[in-house]
Amino acid sequence: MKNVELRFIREMFDQIAPRYDLLNRLLSCRQDVYWRRMMVSEIKVPAGGLLLDVACGTGDVAIEIIRQKGSSVKVCGIDFSTSMLMLARDKIRDMHDGSNIHLLSGNALNLPFKAETFDALTIAFGIRNIVDKLSALQVFYRTLTTGGMVLVLELAFPEKGLLPAFYHFYFRKILPLIGALFSKNLIAYQYLPCSVESFPDPYSFAAIMRKAGFQDIRWKKLALGIAVLYVGYKKKP
Ligand SMILES: C[S@@+](CC[C@H](N)C(=O)[O-])C[C@H]1O[C@@H](n2cnc3c(N)ncnc32)[C@H](O)[C@@H]1O
Repeated sequence: MKNVELRFIREMFDQIAPRYDLLNRLLSCRQDVYWRRMMVSEIKVPAGGLLLDVACGTGDVAIEIIRQKGSSVKVCGIDFSTSMLMLARDKIRDMHDGSNIHLLSGNALNLPFKAETFDALTIAFGIRNIVDKLSALQVFYRTLTTGGMVLVLELAFPEKGLLPAFYHFYFRKILPLIGALFSKNLIAYQYLPCSVESFPDPYSFAAIMRKAGFQDIRWKKLALGIAVLYVGYKKKP
């Protein structure tokens, strides 16, 4: 069952890859750019630090890390969609300090790295697509050095005021239409609201992070709760 889910997700991202960036900017009114920037600004790593961006997609987080932290850090981006990775590769080739980013193909649930390798690990809009979130977080925990931090950026449903009703309407009716129009893939943009709706609330997700071993977990709601940034640390047990 898990392999079927993984294949469905991978093929879906392979199909929507050419229009992925355009649709992200369009559907979020460019907020996605700001949210990634926010996440990266929270990262604390030493000079010469090593970072891993899981589910790196078209490379926006990795590029933002180098933009903010400079080329004294190195970033590894991993994703299982070849089409998303190819677009990331094209963007990174155009950067003057792109050699600080290394891309590789792989599954978040089976990261090909030794334990205690990375000073920080990021995942933006990726964990929602992974059914077994606890296993993924346990794998992330293992690859981090002691003292290392994990940052998870994810979409969410706003809870208060009139926004939930509007958001439901936008997510259920408008977004799939725009998505289908531009990407020619209605299923992907019907799947998006379902995956956001079924994502645990911040307290429950923080509990999963804690179960995976992370400590000092905090979260910050962005844009009235449309996105949430979670931060946690690997500390001495
Ligand atoms: C919504 S995109 C996010 C991409 C990027 N992080 C961003 O900020 O735009 C989700 C990405 O997660 C990748 N992905 C989903 N499940 C994965 C898994 N189990 N292993 C590796 N990559 C995965 C998809 O291929 C896709 O590129």
